[in-house]
Amino acid sequence: MAETITITDDRTGQTVTVPIEGGVFPASAIRSLDPSLFVYDPAYMQTASCKSAITYLDGENGILRYGGYPIEQLAEQSTFLEVAYLLLHGELPTSEQLAVWSHDITHHTFIHENMRKRFVDGFHYDAHPMGMFVSALAALGTFYDGAKDIDDPASRHKQVLRLIAKTPTMAAMCYRFSVGLPFNYPNNDISFPANFLSMMWKIGDDYQLDPVLEKAMDVLFILHADHEQNCGTTAMRVVGSSNADPYSSAAAAASALYGPLHGGANEAVVRMLSEIGSVENVPAFIQSVKDGEGRLMGFGHRVYKNYDPRAKIIKQTAYDVFDVTGKNPLLDIALKLEEVALQDPYFVDRKLYPNVDFYSGLIYQAMGFPVDMFTVLFAIPRTAGWLAHWQELLADKDQKISRPRQWYIGPESRDYVPLASRS
Ligand code: ACO
Repeated sequence: MAETITITDDRTGQTVTVPIEGGVFPASAIRSLDPSLFVYDPAYMQTASCKSAITYLDGENGILRYGGYPIEQLAEQSTFLEVAYLLLHGELPTSEQLAVWSHDITHHTFIHENMRKRFVDGFHYDAHPMGMFVSALAALGTFYDGAKDIDDPASRHKQVLRLIAKTPTMAAMCYRFSVGLPFNYPNNDISFPANFLSMMWKIGDDYQLDPVLEKAMDVLFILHADHEQNCGTTAMRVVGSSNADPYSSAAAAASALYGPLHGGANEAVVRMLSEIGSVENVPAFIQSVKDGEGRLMGFGHRVYKNYDPRAKIIKQTAYDVFDVTGKNPLLDIALKLEEVALQDPYFVDRKLYPNVDFYSGLIYQAMGFPVDMFTVLFAIPRTAGWLAHWQELLADKDQKISRPRQWYIGPESRDYVPLASRS
Protein backbone atom coordinates (compact mmCIF):
# COMPACT_ATOMS: atom_id res chain seq x y z
CA MET A 1 0.00 0.00 0.00
CA ALA A 2 1.38 3.39 -1.00
CA GLU A 3 2.22 5.56 2.03
CA THR A 4 1.20 8.72 0.18
CA ILE A 5 -1.81 10.96 -0.12
CA THR A 6 -3.00 12.68 -3.29
CA ILE A 7 -5.05 15.85 -3.04
CA THR A 8 -6.84 17.34 -6.02
CA ASP A 9 -8.08 20.91 -6.11
CA ASP A 10 -11.28 20.49 -8.14
CA ARG A 11 -11.34 24.21 -8.91
CA THR A 12 -8.15 23.98 -10.96
CA GLY A 13 -7.66 20.24 -11.54
CA GLN A 14 -4.20 20.57 -9.95
CA THR A 15 -3.00 17.54 -8.00
CA VAL A 16 -0.32 17.03 -5.37
CA THR A 17 0.99 13.76 -3.94
CA VAL A 18 2.95 13.79 -0.70
CA PRO A 19 4.28 11.09 1.67
CA ILE A 20 2.48 10.04 4.84
CA GLU A 21 5.02 9.48 7.62
CA GLY A 22 3.97 8.28 11.06
CA GLY A 23 0.34 8.99 10.13
CA VAL A 24 1.09 12.62 9.26
CA PHE A 25 1.39 14.48 5.96
CA PRO A 26 2.76 18.01 5.57
CA ALA A 27 0.30 20.91 5.24
CA SER A 28 2.77 22.37 2.74
CA ALA A 29 0.99 20.07 0.24
CA ILE A 30 -2.04 22.38 0.49
CA ARG A 31 0.20 25.44 0.20
CA SER A 32 1.74 24.08 -2.98
CA LEU A 33 -1.74 23.78 -4.54
CA ASP A 34 -2.84 27.28 -3.54
CA PRO A 35 -1.06 29.48 -0.93
CA SER A 36 -4.39 31.15 -0.06
CA LEU A 37 -6.12 27.83 0.73
CA PHE A 38 -6.34 26.88 4.43
CA VAL A 39 -7.50 23.94 6.51
CA TYR A 40 -10.26 24.76 9.02
CA ASP A 41 -9.37 22.88 12.22
CA PRO A 42 -10.83 24.45 15.38
CA ALA A 43 -9.12 23.21 18.57
CA TYR A 44 -6.41 21.60 16.39
CA MET A 45 -8.33 18.33 16.41
CA GLN A 46 -6.53 17.03 13.31
CA THR A 47 -3.36 19.10 13.36
CA ALA A 48 0.15 18.01 14.40
CA SER A 49 1.73 21.35 15.31
CA CYS A 50 5.27 20.03 15.78
CA LYS A 51 7.56 17.03 15.66
CA SER A 52 8.43 15.86 19.17
CA ALA A 53 10.64 13.16 20.66
CA ILE A 54 9.62 13.71 24.29
CA THR A 55 6.40 11.85 25.05
CA TYR A 56 4.53 9.11 23.18
CA LEU A 57 0.81 8.83 23.72
CA ASP A 58 -1.52 6.25 22.18
CA GLY A 59 -5.00 7.23 23.30
CA GLU A 60 -6.80 4.28 21.71
CA ASN A 61 -4.71 1.76 23.62
CA GLY A 62 -4.07 3.77 26.79
CA ILE A 63 -0.26 3.93 26.38
CA LEU A 64 1.98 6.70 27.73
CA ARG A 65 5.78 6.72 27.51
CA TYR A 66 8.40 9.35 28.30
CA GLY A 67 11.47 8.97 26.06
CA GLY A 68 10.21 5.48 25.17
CA TYR A 69 9.97 4.34 28.81
CA PRO A 70 6.47 3.15 29.89
CA ILE A 71 4.91 5.40 32.50
CA GLU A 72 4.17 2.37 34.69
CA GLN A 73 7.89 1.52 34.94
CA LEU A 74 8.89 5.11 35.62
CA ALA A 75 6.24 5.51 38.33
CA GLU A 76 7.39 2.35 40.06
CA GLN A 77 11.16 2.57 39.68
CA SER A 78 12.21 6.15 38.94
CA THR A 79 12.05 9.50 40.73
CA PHE A 80 10.65 12.82 39.58
CA LEU A 81 14.09 14.41 39.32
CA GLU A 82 15.33 11.55 37.13
CA VAL A 83 12.20 11.82 34.97
CA ALA A 84 12.69 15.58 34.61
CA TYR A 85 16.24 14.87 33.39
CA LEU A 86 14.88 12.30 30.93
CA LEU A 87 12.32 14.75 29.52
CA LEU A 88 14.90 17.50 29.11
CA HIS A 89 17.81 15.38 27.84
CA GLY A 90 16.07 12.51 26.04
CA GLU A 91 17.99 9.86 28.03
CA LEU A 92 18.02 8.59 31.59
CA PRO A 93 21.02 10.01 33.50
CA THR A 94 24.04 7.99 34.59
CA SER A 95 24.64 8.03 38.37
CA GLU A 96 27.15 10.82 37.90
CA GLN A 97 24.79 12.90 35.74
CA LEU A 98 21.97 12.35 38.21
CA ALA A 99 24.16 13.45 41.11
CA VAL A 100 25.09 16.70 39.31
CA TRP A 101 21.48 17.30 38.20
CA SER A 102 20.05 16.70 41.69
CA HIS A 103 22.73 18.89 43.26
CA ASP A 104 22.07 21.72 40.79
CA ILE A 105 18.29 21.59 41.23
CA THR A 106 18.63 21.38 45.00
CA HIS A 107 20.87 24.43 45.05
CA HIS A 108 18.41 26.63 43.17
CA THR A 109 15.41 26.12 45.45
CA PHE A 110 15.63 29.45 47.28
CA ILE A 111 13.81 32.47 45.91
CA HIS A 112 14.62 36.14 46.26
CA GLU A 113 13.24 37.57 49.51
CA ASN A 114 11.40 40.27 47.57
CA MET A 115 9.32 37.61 45.83
CA ARG A 116 7.78 36.82 49.20
CA LYS A 117 7.96 40.09 51.06
CA ARG A 118 6.87 42.42 48.32
CA PHE A 119 5.25 40.34 45.63
CA VAL A 120 3.32 37.56 47.35
CA ASP A 121 2.49 39.70 50.37
CA GLY A 122 0.71 42.08 48.01
CA PHE A 123 -2.04 39.59 47.23
CA HIS A 124 -5.43 39.75 48.89
CA TYR A 125 -5.62 37.34 51.85
CA ASP A 126 -8.01 34.94 50.07
CA ALA A 127 -6.36 34.98 46.62
CA HIS A 128 -6.58 31.64 44.80
CA PRO A 129 -3.16 29.92 45.09
CA MET A 130 -3.14 29.07 41.38
CA GLY A 131 -3.72 32.72 40.44
CA MET A 132 -0.84 33.63 42.74
CA PHE A 133 1.34 30.87 41.29
CA VAL A 134 0.71 31.94 37.68
CA SER A 135 1.66 35.53 38.52
CA ALA A 136 4.67 34.43 40.60
CA LEU A 137 6.04 32.43 37.65
CA ALA A 138 6.03 35.50 35.41
CA ALA A 139 7.40 37.72 38.19
CA LEU A 140 10.26 35.30 38.91
CA GLY A 141 11.78 36.03 35.50
CA THR A 142 12.19 39.68 36.39
CA PHE A 143 14.80 38.72 39.01
CA TYR A 144 17.22 37.23 36.47
CA ASP A 145 19.20 39.22 33.95
CA GLY A 146 19.81 36.15 31.81
CA ALA A 147 16.15 35.20 31.55
CA LYS A 148 15.87 36.70 28.10
CA ASP A 149 19.13 35.19 26.76
CA ILE A 150 17.31 32.32 25.19
CA ASP A 151 19.91 31.85 22.45
CA ASP A 152 22.63 31.10 24.99
CA PRO A 153 22.57 27.39 25.93
CA ALA A 154 24.25 28.02 29.32
CA SER A 155 21.67 30.66 30.22
CA ARG A 156 18.83 28.44 29.04
CA HIS A 157 20.09 25.64 31.25
CA LYS A 158 20.27 28.00 34.22
CA GLN A 159 16.65 29.07 33.75
CA VAL A 160 15.57 25.43 33.44
CA LEU A 161 17.26 24.59 36.76
CA ARG A 162 15.75 27.64 38.41
CA LEU A 163 12.23 26.98 37.24
CA ILE A 164 12.20 23.30 38.19
CA ALA A 165 13.82 24.04 41.55
CA LYS A 166 11.77 27.08 42.52
CA THR A 167 8.23 26.02 41.57
CA PRO A 168 7.79 23.90 44.74
CA THR A 169 9.10 26.80 46.83
CA MET A 170 6.69 29.23 45.20
CA ALA A 171 3.78 26.79 45.48
CA ALA A 172 4.40 26.29 49.20
CA MET A 173 4.85 30.03 49.65
CA CYS A 174 1.46 30.74 48.01
CA TYR A 175 -0.17 28.18 50.31
CA ARG A 176 1.46 29.44 53.51
CA PHE A 177 0.45 33.00 52.62
CA SER A 178 -3.15 31.94 52.01
CA VAL A 179 -3.41 30.40 55.50
CA GLY A 180 -1.36 33.09 57.22
CA LEU A 181 1.49 30.79 58.25
CA PRO A 182 5.17 31.80 58.18
CA PHE A 183 7.10 30.69 55.13
CA ASN A 184 9.38 27.65 55.47
CA TYR A 185 12.74 27.90 53.71
CA PRO A 186 13.82 24.99 51.49
CA ASN A 187 15.79 22.15 53.06
CA ASN A 188 18.57 21.03 50.73
CA ASP A 189 19.26 17.82 52.68
CA ILE A 190 16.07 16.00 51.74
CA SER A 191 14.49 14.75 48.51
CA PHE A 192 12.60 16.95 46.04
CA PRO A 193 9.11 15.76 47.16
CA ALA A 194 10.10 15.69 50.85
CA ASN A 195 11.39 19.26 50.62
CA PHE A 196 8.11 20.39 49.06
CA LEU A 197 5.99 18.64 51.69
CA SER A 198 8.17 20.03 54.46
CA MET A 199 7.82 23.59 53.11
CA MET A 200 4.05 23.03 53.01
CA TRP A 201 3.45 21.50 56.41
CA LYS A 202 6.34 22.10 58.77
CA ILE A 203 5.45 24.14 61.85
CA GLY A 204 8.42 24.79 64.10
CA ASP A 205 10.81 21.81 64.07
CA ASP A 206 8.08 19.32 64.51
CA TYR A 207 7.59 17.59 61.16
CA GLN A 208 7.90 13.88 60.43
CA LEU A 209 7.19 12.75 56.87
CA ASP A 210 5.90 9.24 56.27
CA PRO A 211 7.96 7.65 53.44
CA VAL A 212 4.73 6.36 51.83
CA LEU A 213 3.52 9.95 51.40
CA GLU A 214 6.94 11.05 50.11
CA LYS A 215 6.83 8.26 47.50
CA ALA A 216 3.17 9.07 46.63
CA MET A 217 4.04 12.74 46.04
CA ASP A 218 6.95 11.69 43.81
CA VAL A 219 4.74 9.28 41.83
CA LEU A 220 2.15 12.03 41.32
CA PHE A 221 4.92 14.37 40.16
CA ILE A 222 6.16 11.71 37.68
CA LEU A 223 2.67 11.07 36.29
CA HIS A 224 2.03 14.78 35.76
CA ALA A 225 5.45 15.67 34.34
CA ASP A 226 4.46 15.68 30.67
CA HIS A 227 1.61 14.83 28.37
CA GLU A 228 2.71 16.02 24.91
CA GLN A 229 0.75 18.75 23.11
CA ASN A 230 -2.07 19.45 25.58
CA CYS A 231 -3.55 22.92 26.07
CA GLY A 232 -0.89 24.10 28.57
CA THR A 233 2.10 22.77 26.62
CA THR A 234 0.72 24.25 23.43
CA ALA A 235 0.44 27.61 25.23
CA MET A 236 4.12 27.21 26.29
CA ARG A 237 5.14 26.56 22.70
CA VAL A 238 2.99 29.33 21.21
CA VAL A 239 4.28 31.96 23.62
CA GLY A 240 7.83 30.56 23.46
CA SER A 241 7.73 30.78 19.67
CA SER A 242 7.78 34.58 19.95
CA ASN A 243 11.12 34.18 21.80
CA ALA A 244 9.51 35.26 25.08
CA ASP A 245 11.55 34.26 28.15
CA PRO A 246 10.75 30.86 29.71
CA TYR A 247 9.19 32.39 32.85
CA SER A 248 6.59 34.33 30.85
CA SER A 249 5.99 31.31 28.62
CA ALA A 250 5.55 29.04 31.65
CA ALA A 251 3.11 31.56 33.17
CA ALA A 252 1.04 31.30 29.98
CA ALA A 253 1.17 27.51 30.15
CA ALA A 254 0.13 27.59 33.82
CA SER A 255 -2.78 29.90 32.95
CA ALA A 256 -3.98 27.35 30.42
CA LEU A 257 -3.62 24.60 33.01
CA TYR A 258 -5.76 26.60 35.46
CA GLY A 259 -8.96 26.04 33.46
CA PRO A 260 -11.45 23.41 34.74
CA LEU A 261 -11.40 21.53 31.43
CA HIS A 262 -7.65 21.01 31.86
CA GLY A 263 -5.62 20.93 35.11
CA GLY A 264 -8.44 22.53 37.07
CA ALA A 265 -10.46 19.32 36.69
CA ASN A 266 -8.99 17.68 39.83
CA GLU A 267 -10.42 20.53 41.88
CA ALA A 268 -13.74 20.22 40.06
CA VAL A 269 -13.84 16.47 40.75
CA VAL A 270 -13.60 16.87 44.52
CA ARG A 271 -16.21 19.62 44.49
CA MET A 272 -18.46 17.36 42.37
CA LEU A 273 -17.98 14.38 44.73
CA SER A 274 -18.76 16.56 47.74
CA GLU A 275 -21.92 17.83 46.07
CA ILE A 276 -23.06 14.29 45.22
CA GLY A 277 -22.64 13.65 48.94
CA SER A 278 -23.39 9.91 49.13
CA VAL A 279 -23.27 6.70 47.10
CA GLU A 280 -27.08 6.59 46.93
CA ASN A 281 -27.10 9.86 44.96
CA VAL A 282 -24.79 8.52 42.24
CA PRO A 283 -27.46 7.16 39.83
CA ALA A 284 -29.40 10.46 39.91
CA PHE A 285 -26.18 12.39 39.29
CA ILE A 286 -25.24 10.16 36.34
CA GLN A 287 -28.72 10.74 34.92
CA SER A 288 -28.30 14.51 35.24
CA VAL A 289 -25.01 14.29 33.30
CA LYS A 290 -26.74 12.26 30.58
CA ASP A 291 -29.50 14.87 30.49
CA GLY A 292 -26.85 17.45 29.66
CA GLU A 293 -26.99 19.24 33.02
CA GLY A 294 -23.22 19.03 33.56
CA ARG A 295 -20.17 16.88 32.96
CA LEU A 296 -18.80 14.00 34.91
CA MET A 297 -15.58 15.74 35.86
CA GLY A 298 -12.45 13.59 35.72
CA PHE A 299 -13.93 11.57 32.88
CA GLY A 300 -13.17 11.83 29.19
CA HIS A 301 -10.11 13.02 27.35
CA ARG A 302 -9.35 14.53 23.97
CA VAL A 303 -6.80 11.82 23.19
CA TYR A 304 -7.50 8.85 25.49
CA LYS A 305 -10.39 6.77 24.26
CA ASN A 306 -9.45 4.13 26.79
CA TYR A 307 -8.58 4.07 30.52
CA ASP A 308 -5.96 6.77 31.13
CA PRO A 309 -2.87 4.75 32.23
CA ARG A 310 -2.07 7.46 34.78
CA ALA A 311 -5.50 7.04 36.39
CA LYS A 312 -4.76 3.33 36.97
CA ILE A 313 -1.49 4.11 38.78
CA ILE A 314 -3.11 6.91 40.77
CA LYS A 315 -5.92 4.64 41.89
CA GLN A 316 -3.34 2.21 43.32
CA THR A 317 -1.39 5.07 44.90
CA ALA A 318 -4.61 6.27 46.53
CA TYR A 319 -4.93 3.00 48.46
CA ASP A 320 -1.29 3.27 49.63
CA VAL A 321 -1.91 6.82 50.86
CA PHE A 322 -5.20 5.94 52.55
CA ASP A 323 -3.38 3.22 54.54
CA VAL A 324 -1.43 6.05 56.15
CA THR A 325 -3.97 8.89 56.24
CA GLY A 326 -7.21 6.95 56.59
CA LYS A 327 -9.67 6.59 53.72
CA ASN A 328 -11.00 9.70 52.04
CA PRO A 329 -14.77 9.43 52.58
CA LEU A 330 -15.32 10.58 48.98
CA LEU A 331 -13.57 7.45 47.65
CA ASP A 332 -16.70 5.30 47.83
CA ILE A 333 -18.64 7.85 45.78
CA ALA A 334 -15.83 7.96 43.19
CA LEU A 335 -15.68 4.16 42.96
CA LYS A 336 -19.45 3.97 42.52
CA LEU A 337 -19.40 6.69 39.86
CA GLU A 338 -16.69 4.85 37.96
CA GLU A 339 -18.55 1.54 38.24
CA VAL A 340 -21.86 3.00 37.03
CA ALA A 341 -20.33 5.12 34.25
CA LEU A 342 -18.21 2.30 32.85
CA GLN A 343 -21.36 0.21 32.37
CA ASP A 344 -23.57 2.97 31.02
CA PRO A 345 -23.97 3.13 27.21
CA TYR A 346 -23.73 6.96 27.30
CA PHE A 347 -20.14 6.78 28.58
CA VAL A 348 -19.24 3.51 26.83
CA ASP A 349 -20.38 4.75 23.39
CA ARG A 350 -18.45 8.00 23.79
CA LYS A 351 -15.39 6.14 25.11
CA LEU A 352 -15.35 8.19 28.31
CA TYR A 353 -13.03 6.71 30.96
CA PRO A 354 -11.48 8.12 34.16
CA ASN A 355 -8.63 10.50 33.40
CA VAL A 356 -5.64 11.51 35.52
CA ASP A 357 -7.73 13.92 37.54
CA PHE A 358 -10.42 11.52 38.70
CA TYR A 359 -8.51 10.05 41.66
CA SER A 360 -5.64 12.52 42.14
CA GLY A 361 -7.77 15.03 44.06
CA LEU A 362 -8.79 12.35 46.57
CA ILE A 363 -5.13 11.68 47.34
CA TYR A 364 -4.30 15.36 47.60
CA GLN A 365 -7.22 15.90 49.95
CA ALA A 366 -6.25 12.92 52.11
CA MET A 367 -2.72 14.32 52.35
CA GLY A 368 -4.17 17.59 53.68
CA PHE A 369 -3.97 19.83 50.61
CA PRO A 370 -6.85 22.29 50.28
CA VAL A 371 -8.84 21.91 47.08
CA ASP A 372 -7.63 25.16 45.55
CA MET A 373 -4.00 23.94 45.74
CA PHE A 374 -4.68 20.94 43.47
CA THR A 375 -3.87 22.62 40.16
CA VAL A 376 -0.72 24.11 41.67
CA LEU A 377 0.34 20.54 42.54
CA PHE A 378 -0.14 19.65 38.87
CA ALA A 379 1.86 22.68 37.68
CA ILE A 380 4.96 21.89 39.78
CA PRO A 381 6.02 18.77 37.86
CA ARG A 382 4.48 19.91 34.56
CA THR A 383 7.00 22.75 34.56
CA ALA A 384 9.64 20.13 33.60
CA GLY A 385 7.51 19.05 30.62
CA TRP A 386 6.84 22.63 29.54
CA LEU A 387 10.57 23.37 29.61
CA ALA A 388 11.41 20.22 27.65
CA HIS A 389 8.99 21.33 24.93
CA TRP A 390 10.34 24.87 25.04
CA GLN A 391 13.90 23.58 24.51
CA GLU A 392 12.76 21.30 21.70
CA LEU A 393 10.89 24.17 20.05
CA LEU A 394 13.94 26.46 20.11
CA ALA A 395 16.10 23.75 18.52
CA ASP A 396 13.55 22.90 15.80
CA LYS A 397 14.49 24.46 12.47
CA ASP A 398 10.96 23.85 11.11
CA GLN A 399 9.45 26.17 13.71
CA LYS A 400 8.68 29.86 13.39
CA ILE A 401 6.53 32.21 15.43
CA SER A 402 3.10 30.57 15.86
CA ARG A 403 0.58 32.29 13.71
CA PRO A 404 -2.51 30.36 12.62
CA ARG A 405 -4.83 31.73 9.95
CA GLN A 406 -8.55 32.34 10.26
CA TRP A 407 -11.67 31.81 8.21
CA TYR A 408 -13.12 35.33 8.12
CA ILE A 409 -16.93 35.31 8.39
CA GLY A 410 -17.55 38.97 9.28
CA PRO A 411 -19.11 41.74 7.16
CA GLU A 412 -17.74 42.74 3.77
CA SER A 413 -16.19 46.19 3.44
CA ARG A 414 -18.68 48.96 4.34
CA ASP A 415 -18.55 52.69 4.93
CA TYR A 416 -18.20 54.17 8.42
CA VAL A 417 -21.50 55.53 9.76
CA PRO A 418 -21.17 58.71 11.88
CA LEU A 419 -22.63 58.29 15.40
CA ALA A 420 -25.46 60.78 14.76
CA SER A 421 -26.66 58.74 11.76
CA ARG A 422 -26.80 55.36 13.56
CA SER A 423 -30.20 54.13 14.63
N1 ACO B 1 -19.11 14.00 31.05
C1 ACO B 1 -20.19 13.84 30.24
N2 ACO B 1 -20.11 13.88 28.91
C2 ACO B 1 -18.91 14.08 28.36
C3 ACO B 1 -17.75 14.25 29.14
C4 ACO B 1 -17.89 14.19 30.54
N3 ACO B 1 -16.84 14.32 31.34
N4 ACO B 1 -16.69 14.43 28.34
C5 ACO B 1 -17.16 14.39 27.08
N5 ACO B 1 -18.51 14.16 27.11
C6 ACO B 1 -19.38 13.98 25.94
C7 ACO B 1 -19.68 15.30 25.26
O1 ACO B 1 -20.83 15.90 25.78
C8 ACO B 1 -19.83 14.87 23.84
O2 ACO B 1 -21.10 14.27 23.70
P1 ACO B 1 -21.97 14.49 22.34
O3 ACO B 1 -21.15 13.81 21.28
O4 ACO B 1 -23.28 13.87 22.62
O5 ACO B 1 -22.05 15.98 22.14
C9 ACO B 1 -18.82 13.76 23.70
O6 ACO B 1 -18.66 13.20 25.01
C10 ACO B 1 -17.46 14.24 23.19
O7 ACO B 1 -17.03 15.29 24.03
P2 ACO B 1 -16.16 16.53 23.57
O8 ACO B 1 -16.42 17.65 24.50
O9 ACO B 1 -16.36 16.76 22.10
O10 ACO B 1 -14.70 15.95 23.77
P3 ACO B 1 -13.40 16.80 23.87
O11 ACO B 1 -12.31 15.93 23.38
O12 ACO B 1 -13.55 18.14 23.25
O13 ACO B 1 -13.26 17.04 25.46
C11 ACO B 1 -12.57 16.97 27.68
C12 ACO B 1 -12.30 16.47 26.26
C13 ACO B 1 -12.52 18.50 27.70
C14 ACO B 1 -11.46 16.46 28.61
C15 ACO B 1 -13.95 16.46 28.14
O14 ACO B 1 -13.98 15.04 28.14
C16 ACO B 1 -14.35 17.00 29.51
O15 ACO B 1 -14.89 18.10 29.61
N6 ACO B 1 -14.09 16.20 30.61
C17 ACO B 1 -14.38 16.68 31.95
C18 ACO B 1 -13.27 17.63 32.40
C19 ACO B 1 -12.00 16.88 32.73
O16 ACO B 1 -11.99 15.87 33.43
N7 ACO B 1 -10.88 17.43 32.22
C20 ACO B 1 -9.56 16.89 32.50
C21 ACO B 1 -8.93 16.29 31.27
S1 ACO B 1 -7.36 15.61 31.63
C22 ACO B 1 -6.36 16.99 31.75
O17 ACO B 1 -6.56 17.97 31.06
C23 ACO B 1 -5.25 16.95 32.61
